[in-house]
Amino acid sequence: TLSPDRRGALLGFGPVPATLFDGITVPPEYAADVLYPWGAPTGIAGAMPAFSPDASNSAADQTLQAGMHHDGMHFFALRQDGRRGLLVMNHEYTDERLLHTDGVAPWTAEKVRKSLHAMGVSVIEVERTAQGWRQVLPSRHARRIHGATPMRIAGPAAGTPWMQTAADASGRRVFGTFANCAMGVTPWGTYLTCEENFHGYFGGPKEAAADVTPEQRRYGTVPGTQWVEYWRFDERFDLSKHPNEAHRFGWVVEIDPFDPTSTPVKRTALGRKRQESATCTLTRDGRVAVYMGDDAAFEYIYKFVSRDRVHKGQDATARAANRTLLDEGTLYVARYDADGRGRWLELVHGRGGVDEASGFADQAQVVVHARLAADVVGATKMDRPEWIAVHPHTGEVYVTLTNNALRGAPGKPAADAANPRAPNLFGGILRWREDDGDAASLSFAWDHFVQAGDPALPDIGARYPQPDDDAFGSPDGLHFDSGGLLWIQTDMSGQAIGTGTHAALGNNQLLCADPASGRIRRFLVGPNGCEITGCVVTPDRRTLFVNVQHPGERRDNGTGALNSAWPDGTLPASTRPRSATVVVQRRDGGIVGT
Ligand code: FEO
Ligand code: CA
Ligand code: CA
Ligand code: CA
Repeated sequence: TLSPDRRGALLGFGPVPATLFDGITVPPEYAADVLYPWGAPTGIAGAMPAFSPDASNSAADQTLQAGMHHDGMHFFALRQDGRRGLLVMNHEYTDERLLHTDGVAPWTAEKVRKSLHAMGVSVIEVERTAQGWRQVLPSRHARRIHGATPMRIAGPAAGTPWMQTAADASGRRVFGTFANCAMGVTPWGTYLTCEENFHGYFGGPKEAAADVTPEQRRYGTVPGTQWVEYWRFDERFDLSKHPNEAHRFGWVVEIDPFDPTSTPVKRTALGRKRQESATCTLTRDGRVAVYMGDDAAFEYIYKFVSRDRVHKGQDATARAANRTLLDEGTLYVARYDADGRGRWLELVHGRGGVDEASGFADQAQVVVHARLAADVVGATKMDRPEWIAVHPHTGEVYVTLTNNALRGAPGKPAADAANPRAPNLFGGILRWREDDGDAASLSFAWDHFVQAGDPALPDIGARYPQPDDDAFGSPDGLHFDSGGLLWIQTDMSGQAIGTGTHAALGNNQLLCADPASGRIRRFLVGPNGCEITGCVVTPDRRTLFVNVQHPGERRDNGTGALNSAWPDGTLPASTRPRSATVVVQRRDGGIVGT
């Protein structure tokens, strides 16, 4: 008989071409259905406004509907047989031109509110029926958490001057979460949402840029460089007036999805960065380790290990017993050495040169400016670390390094062993094995699993584990299913897709890899202009949920015409393209990917 690993190695699904088709392409023996597009009611009883295709839903409506740009996601089973569960997902950012009937000419306070409400997290209930998966409407679990939802700040930075603002003298209460990208799940059944590109929402008058600190520059919170004009209508986003407000974003936020009245908590012990992924695993002695990326060129990979052991279980008792577990522990940052070995370097005030002499007064400052503390200890600057996944059987840790066009550019870091391509236009996946198989270890062995890109182009240095693997670029999302198959989601730049060195790679896609055999096969290709992200396979491995983010993001040069009408229409675009969740199942009900 075959072991689960060997069965997984078969990857026995039909071929999926690298296509530029404006729709979902899956193997012929699979079906893909759309669930919960932007604007769909979340399912809050008595408050389920329908989506208006002309984007005329109000800011208040948007607090009761799916946000924009679905990203990280997890399925929490509500029943033992897995037929009913909660889908919890991030809404990363907004496309203001699609969000408002008349775009942002002009910006208004109402548009700022709608935009804030279109980010954050959705908790929806889903159930599998004879006709397939459907959203339960209404559901007592349904919840929208968004850019104005009250939440708590915990850990070393809570209550310190760094976090105090005019609206919150306590430094312990913050309004909202946004820029929610990748995610994590704790062993006790809570959801971790990661605040990534928060800097783009803070701004101010250009002249104020002359006064920015080195710390603000490092985190990109510079007046005049904002992506949106929130600061003109909501003063807390004006860095020149409320510089501390930006310290309250860039965190891992813990949410109890089973209790819609619970208060989300920002866990500052895990460090502030452009937070991408918070992947949990247990150490040998039963503590929790959290692996984290920081998605910017030349930023770092982090690990947090809790001081205390996890109380076992995922029921309400266990969740209560673990409610402060992420507040006490040690934060580390990774160094990848040329000999294939690596070290976890602690970011602890008073140790390793992180002290008054290097500009750190206390641990609060270390976590608020974790990137600068990581500079002090000599961590390795990576090619945009995004998602991290832990193999369910071996404990090996895989991270996507999505790309870094600046590697080797004048004045920028050169190639190194862990980041060997300069420039790195296609990204790859690096992996490591913690010494003694223990996630608490301070040393590890690492190697590259794949260097992505088109192997037919000799100059770009693509390396695949097997000669007939399917090619892709810019891996971003990563998910291990319970059988040990690795699901890779790509985020190639919309401008590059289908052109030049990207011509053979098709639209952004989901691939399935078997780490044991090194086989990588394309499984799903998304519509035009999208990225594919937020993949999760149910515990029974018979359903795969995956998010299609920002279809139509790439517009035809000059004309501004949309290049996608997915999922509601066909090209030429007659409808607003919408991010949505896609449900994928084998038509025969079998295990996905095999
Ligand atoms: Fe939101 Fe780094 O992707
Ligand atoms: Ca991402
Ligand atoms: Ca993206
Ligand atoms: Ca990305």
